[in-house]
Amino acid sequence: MQPVQELVRQLTLEEKAALCSGATAWRTEAVERLGIPSIVLSDGPHGLRRPVREDELGGPSVPATCFPTASAMACSWDRQLVREVAQALGAEARAAGVHVLLGPGVNMKRTPLCGRNFEYFSEDPYLAGELAAAYVEGLQSTGVSACVKHFAANNQETDRMTVDAVVDERTLREIYLAVFERVIRKARPWSVMCSYNRLNGVYASQHRWLLTEVLREAWGFDGLVVSDWGAVEDRVAGLAAGLDLEMPGPSPANDARIVEAVRTGQLDEAVLDRAVERILTLVQKVTSPSNPAPPVDVDAHHRLARRAAAACMVLLKNEGALLPLQPDRHRSVALLGGMAAAPQFQGGGSSRVNPTRTESALEAWREVAPEVSVSYHQGYRQDGGRDAALLRAAVDAARVADVAVVFVGLPDGVESEGYDRKDMALPEGHVALIREVARVQPRTVVVLHNGAPVDMAGWVGQVPAVLLAGLAGQASGAAAVDVLLGRVNPSGKLAETYPTRLEQTPAFFDFPGEGGHVRYGERVFIGYRYYDARDVEPLFPFGHGLSYTTFAYGPLALSRSTIGPDESLDVTLWVRNTGERAGQEVVQLYVGPRQARVARPVKELKGFDKVALAPGESRPVRFVLTALDLAYYDPARRAWVAEPGLYDILVGASSRDIRVQATVELTQGLHAETRLDEESTVRAWMQHPAGRLALERALPPELFGRLAGQPPTSFLWELPLKKLSLLSQGALDESAIRRVVAALRG
Ligand code: BGC
Repeated sequence: MQPVQELVRQLTLEEKAALCSGATAWRTEAVERLGIPSIVLSDGPHGLRRPVREDELGGPSVPATCFPTASAMACSWDRQLVREVAQALGAEARAAGVHVLLGPGVNMKRTPLCGRNFEYFSEDPYLAGELAAAYVEGLQSTGVSACVKHFAANNQETDRMTVDAVVDERTLREIYLAVFERVIRKARPWSVMCSYNRLNGVYASQHRWLLTEVLREAWGFDGLVVSDWGAVEDRVAGLAAGLDLEMPGPSPANDARIVEAVRTGQLDEAVLDRAVERILTLVQKVTSPSNPAPPVDVDAHHRLARRAAAACMVLLKNEGALLPLQPDRHRSVALLGGMAAAPQFQGGGSSRVNPTRTESALEAWREVAPEVSVSYHQGYRQDGGRDAALLRAAVDAARVADVAVVFVGLPDGVESEGYDRKDMALPEGHVALIREVARVQPRTVVVLHNGAPVDMAGWVGQVPAVLLAGLAGQASGAAAVDVLLGRVNPSGKLAETYPTRLEQTPAFFDFPGEGGHVRYGERVFIGYRYYDARDVEPLFPFGHGLSYTTFAYGPLALSRSTIGPDESLDVTLWVRNTGERAGQEVVQLYVGPRQARVARPVKELKGFDKVALAPGESRPVRFVLTALDLAYYDPARRAWVAEPGLYDILVGASSRDIRVQATVELTQGLHAETRLDEESTVRAWMQHPAGRLALERALPPELFGRLAGQPPTSFLWELPLKKLSLLSQGALDESAIRRVVAALRG
């Protein structure tokens, strides 16, 4: 391809408009006379969904490895593993001729009921952002573009095409945008997908503040923005706001509107040119790998899917160390529940993968531990309903076995794109099976297949062990067996809080909204931030997960006891494996302010690491914090702000199992503007390296010297930049100030 700008010069207005919408459901337009190829976009986050009939939106798709869904992967808390899985996804995409994979989905889990929670990572923007960044890095290292979605505040499926998410700016910045900001700054994805919903009254697909001021100007995103499939409302307004590509295509009516808008002067042609440049830049990037894609090793990918699934599983409860099961002691096992033979391993909607193969727990058990005598009983109807005869047969088998493992979860169709759940209930046939089996068999283990929290209060106290297997992809049945039998020591931790009941959850009153609006009334108090602040005991807290070994924490060392706004702090913690098996521990670092002028979470996750330790082995885990990690967002000052004072550094095995802590003092307040403009104070300009330089160049030397000579506490530094004209005795009018701002933006 020729250089992009040259191509743009040679394209006609009509060709440029046509390039801004797809040629088909999954392809961009080609322009043959200029050698511009078309590229292919395809779902989805945890496996490729490439329709058999290439240009159809739905229908059957070609086989691909179904890796664990994001909700499961997040429980691994393992950046390296996520990177590895994303590389495998990239290899499958390339082999299938796909250039852009539509993932990762990074939306926050505001309520357990969102139908797509299984496609998302966490209730915490740091955890979700770190893992999504690893995903983007892994995928893009293969030459395939990631597409981070759904931007932004797309946290429910009810009225998903129209709902207006009403979210205050602080909450957006600290939670709902923070996750995108982390991925974009850290991993530089080549594309972002805007969401269907409105944000504070404006459709995301035509939200200039969101798509241009925040995404591009403040965070430096230089990739392409594509609409969610069918998210475009007003195409011309969208283009002007920063939406480059409309999908699916073709969209001749909207192409014509773009042409018309340019002809009548409603839309500056330069805006269209920029969108086309971004589209062509992406085309160029993803079509450049010249070496042919190697064929996919389907078996190796299945093995990776199994290893990943096992690493995601969370041991929620293990009384009396019932697990791991031991074939020499547990000679007969009753595997109960239809999900033992046909695991639920993914959700519904556009992310649904046609797996290359599946492995159930039943099949795997016979392979891994053939010496154990296995009896399998379905226990409940396939739709989850109760059936007296099925239940009786299962209970009878449980009674005579050494141990019973009950496989339950949310059946197909419960968790899906397009609608939300109404409650957290497990099907009644599943609940009846657990309760009846637990009555006759004290050694009952429950294995859960679900992508979001379910009600457990009615039975969790009656069983000694619970393994959360999640929606962990095509090898999840086998991976569950690996963990149950101790071939893999569980190391997953919850990436979201498991509440006792729905009424306890933070968004209970404000979900799914009323009259087309959903107000994020809980503000920044999402997930554990809420349970901590309200001092509510959840069933299983964020970050919780057991192991077959034990770990000791400490000592904890800080490189300093005070920190200034421009300084960083090293935190070192020693962890030791005090048990008898090799294992991995996810060490979590939270930060909490002792004082604040605004309502702040008790603590927030600011670091984590997963360490592998042999029995008796100790290792240091290092974290680096800066003053920004102590900050909250102040919309009035349009800045990240941290007040001077004491902050707790809390390190633990879960959000409710803090093992060691220390305190650091912030000696001077932090005030970090997100973006400088006329309204920003002179202080913000003077403390920002590029801002200070722009002022020095633009201001009369005498005025600049006067400003620079002031102590930071001076009232002059408190003035918004635009008020400087008052002091400049005519040397600096409003247009000169606008030029300073423009110069900074480049
Ligand atoms: C979903 C996206 C998906 C797209 C293409 C939309 O309905 O919201 O996540 O990538 O369809 O299938």
